[in-house]
Amino acid sequence: MKVLAIASAKGGVGKTTVTANLATALSHAGQPVLVADLDPQNALRLHFGLDPQAIDGLSRATLAGSSWRANCERSDRGVAVMSYGVLNEDDRTLFEEHLATHPDWLREHLENLGMVRHAIVLIDTPPGPSVYLRQALATADMALLVTLPDAASYATLPMMESLVDSYTEGRGDYQGHLHLINQADATRQLSADVAQVMRGLFGERFVGSVHRDQSVAEALAYDQSVFDYAQDSQAAADLMEIAKTVLARLCAGVQAP
Ligand SMILES: Nc1ncnc2c1ncn2[C@@H]1O[C@H](COP(=O)(O)OP(=O)(O)OP(=O)(O)O)[C@@H](O)[C@H]1O
Ligand SMILES: [Mg+2]
Repeated sequence: MKVLAIASAKGGVGKTTVTANLATALSHAGQPVLVADLDPQNALRLHFGLDPQAIDGLSRATLAGSSWRANCERSDRGVAVMSYGVLNEDDRTLFEEHLATHPDWLREHLENLGMVRHAIVLIDTPPGPSVYLRQALATADMALLVTLPDAASYATLPMMESLVDSYTEGRGDYQGHLHLINQADATRQLSADVAQVMRGLFGERFVGSVHRDQSVAEALAYDQSVFDYAQDSQAAADLMEIAKTVLARLCAGVQAP
């Protein structure tokens, strides 16, 4: 089992979109994939066409002491989906206290699922520091940091890298982080410049850019993956290529830049 946490300093950069589409691409390539939503927004399930009214998920299962297996849904894209679920404010506080006091919570639940050795687990997280990101990074083999190609997002990278370093401190088995640009714009020089700088800075840890593409948002509105909705789109091509690169990095590890 290889575990990848998807993270960013800023909100709205496309973490959930990237998580869902990478999972679908990997599944299309024949890889067993589980996605786990560690974000109280509970939005990841929507990318898999699952019932938007359902309230079950890993948060409620944890508070109820029930197994994840009973709450794991299989999407028609072949991806196993562990949703966050829906909690009221008091229960969310209780759940977050549980996570803060049980640092091995995620690791234990993933191990108890008994997935095949070559399974890939993608974990979606809320933006910035949180008990959720801390849990994800206590377990992940690698993190994928998502950045927009603009000055404000780029400026958050040092903060994000030091946050990830602090959450993974002392873990000899953490393989480091990968970088991805989302919403690249081929018509803007700044977008190309940021990609070039990141490629230079991070070497093979920079896994590429996903272009800004209407098909990404439209696919979600039509309950489809971007590969089904617009298989010839730029974003579908980008995501398919990046899925292959991420898989290779995750399975092989990468050298320090
Ligand atoms: N490559 C893309 N092209 C066009 N639109 C995109 C692309 N990636 C994401 N979006 C759109 O950007 C918005 C934010 O995406 P998303 O919800 O995945 O971000 P997020 O980082 O998970 O947000 P949050 O921090 O709130 O969890 C959505 O409307 C999504 O459809
Ligand atoms: Mg999100």
